[in-house]
Amino acid sequence: TDLYAVFGNPIAHSKSPLIHAAFAATTAQAMRYEARLAAVDGFKQAISDFVAAGGKGANVTVPFKEEAFCLSTRLSERAARAGAVNTLAFEGDEIFGDNTDGAGLVRDITVNLGCALAGKRILLLGAGGASRGVIAPLLTGQSAALFIANRTAEKAQLLAEAFADMAPVDAGNFAKTAGNCFDVVINATSASLSGEALPLPPGIFAPGALAYDMMYGKGETPFLQLAREQGAARCADGLGMLVEQAAEAFFLWRGVRPITGALLAELRTGLA
Ligand code: ATR
Repeated sequence: TDLYAVFGNPIAHSKSPLIHAAFAATTAQAMRYEARLAAVDGFKQAISDFVAAGGKGANVTVPFKEEAFCLSTRLSERAARAGAVNTLAFEGDEIFGDNTDGAGLVRDITVNLGCALAGKRILLLGAGGASRGVIAPLLTGQSAALFIANRTAEKAQLLAEAFADMAPVDAGNFAKTAGNCFDVVINATSASLSGEALPLPPGIFAPGALAYDMMYGKGETPFLQLAREQGAARCADGLGMLVEQAAEAFFLWRGVRPITGALLAELRTGLA
């Protein structure tokens, strides 16, 4: 039985063990997946202990994704772009770092929610780690335009410049989005955590627009409430992204792609 774990701080409420146990059961993979609390200054040690104990791979969550990036001896292109790692695979002396967050988001939007990104105008809110992690996968979906808006405009501009070789990206503060409308609006700020609303100008949701909050388990966030009131046709939380980023990690480790639909439905109704 191969051993995997998710490392974070805090970690007690992580759904990853449940999700990977369900994937392992439905794909008949002999594996164990645990949640491990690492001390804030003890991530490197926790990983080397885990590798010494035979660990084959790990997921990494807050606050260790940047440290996992630095610890990796080899990076996937998307992890290099993200500047952060959420999935590690251990092989001999090698620590391979990947980032499946963006692929998980794109898969949730395009497959689960049935919203193709090709030709769409996308607005990404936030310019922190969560935002940076999903930009490259969003840009590879042939979207028509990407606008990054952030409370601190300079951080959005730096991100736009960092990805300018992939596609032209607009950036600015929230007010700068006024006069534009978007087909997909994604909240990657941490404002939903504290229940705060974002000062978005009216009229940014195009007819049929999808509003997507990367947060989950918080009910209707202030962002999704605002989106609904401003006429967004569809609203989604980040639970599907959570399940899909896990599926991408599972695929990397095991070479098998788990079916996610039934599990996602169970998580939504609170059965899983
Ligand atoms: P994460 O890893 O979740 O992205 P982060 O790197 O600390 O965390 O980034 C947090 C993001 O949420 C930033 O874009 C931050 O805006 P600033 O760059 O201006 O700080 C944004 N954010 C957090 N609280 C916010 C709030 N109340 N209103 C608007 N934006 C907020």
